[in-house]
Amino acid sequence: MAPTAERATFVVVANRLPVDRYAGADGREEWRTSPGGLVAALEPVLVANSGTWVGWSGAPDEKCEPFDADGMHLVPVTLSTDDVSDYYEGFSNATLWPLYHDVTAPPAFERRWWEAYHEVNRRFAAAAGEEAAEDAVVWVQDYQLQLVPALLRAERPDLRIGFFNHIPFPGYELYSRLPWRTQVVEGLLGADLIGFQRRDDASNFLRAARMLTGATTRGSVIETAPENGRSGRRLRAAPFPISIDTAGLEQLSRQPEVVARAAELRSELGNPGTILLGVDRLDYTKGILHRLRAYGELLDDGELGPPGTVLVQVASPSRERVEEYQNLRDEVELIVGRINGDHSSVGNPAIHYLHQSFPKEEMAALYLLADVMLVTPLRDGMNLVAKEYVACHHDLRGALVLSEFTGAADELRQAYLVNPYDIDGTKEAILAAVGASPSEQSRRMRPMRRRVIESDVHHWANAFLGALDMVTSN
Ligand code: G6P
Repeated sequence: MAPTAERATFVVVANRLPVDRYAGADGREEWRTSPGGLVAALEPVLVANSGTWVGWSGAPDEKCEPFDADGMHLVPVTLSTDDVSDYYEGFSNATLWPLYHDVTAPPAFERRWWEAYHEVNRRFAAAAGEEAAEDAVVWVQDYQLQLVPALLRAERPDLRIGFFNHIPFPGYELYSRLPWRTQVVEGLLGADLIGFQRRDDASNFLRAARMLTGATTRGSVIETAPENGRSGRRLRAAPFPISIDTAGLEQLSRQPEVVARAAELRSELGNPGTILLGVDRLDYTKGILHRLRAYGELLDDGELGPPGTVLVQVASPSRERVEEYQNLRDEVELIVGRINGDHSSVGNPAIHYLHQSFPKEEMAALYLLADVMLVTPLRDGMNLVAKEYVACHHDLRGALVLSEFTGAADELRQAYLVNPYDIDGTKEAILAAVGASPSEQSRRMRPMRRRVIESDVHHWANAFLGALDMVTSN
């Protein structure tokens, strides 16, 4: 596997390719850059570095040749129907996802899923190794690919390997339930730099590495255990909180079409005094049920209600073949139906529930028109929706209700912070946010905006890649 000149000096490896398929004007299939945090974060870095992105197309059994889209070179990895159900829906999203989100749903531990996870990680590592030039930087993304760093290093010790975990890393008491806990930590220790969202995630990982592998740590520096008479390798594990393309989103929210669309939506909603907004993937970690419970009680209490106040809840479809997600959809739709049944009148629903995904222009219009944004996850690595809301509010209007259990809460300290399990506390925060005066709104919004403007996604990528460079040039 000798590297050649045409190979890339910068390679991103992620479960998904950063594009979605759609039918073009002449009926031919075309690819469009997909919306979503990870893609928004990495596309500009990749385009600037003429890099290659290795990932899955999102459909089972699809064998496509590498192709170029929006200035990125994309290399598809094929997943069979069994891989999708065992590696993606199984180990990634029914074992790791709930375990890493503090067991907000019970994780399932299936040995067959682990085998598939290992095998698919091996395939991603092989594809990345094929693409990477000598001494290239390879940046591996997220919990679906935790074994890739060590698998890749075994084949290509010349590479500089970074790993970023977009989701939380749990405390040892929870993490140690994983039957393959040592293999996963060893997989990650193949990297030169492991990035986490929060300081707590990094220290949870450092502890797991000490407990399970005999590695020693000093601050963020890890020294792996000596092996076969050779001393251990040095690497780092540290927080690098991810962000958004703040300037790009602010610019979008200033476009006349977006401003006009926000006004149109407000009038379609019946020009209510207060519009509350929730925007989430339909995922049990997002605390949608807790939020609806709090909102429903405020309506029962007569504190809020249509037509003066409405809630718009966008719940974009996600992982729909995984049972927990199907159950959640049923529960959410039951409670939305109940609240609407009790509190709506003809033409004035209490909740506008949209189980759909929208283009970013429509999302910007929704953020603009929302007087109060509700972000109430039970656990979330970062939560970019909270940052997107702040980025759109250059008018310094609006109020953000934000769960303490998100990475974003470490940074957006002026939000109305809530413990989403505390329904009374959440109700009080919602009422305070609804009642905030314009001067109170701007007093809170201004420092939050400063934060997302200074710490945007370019800052994040540069900080991570700069730190990777430091580790590997020592
Ligand atoms: C989270 C994860 C990402 C993932 C995204 C969408 O943000 O951290 O890795 O891509 O959810 O989930 P999906 O399963 O549709 O890729």
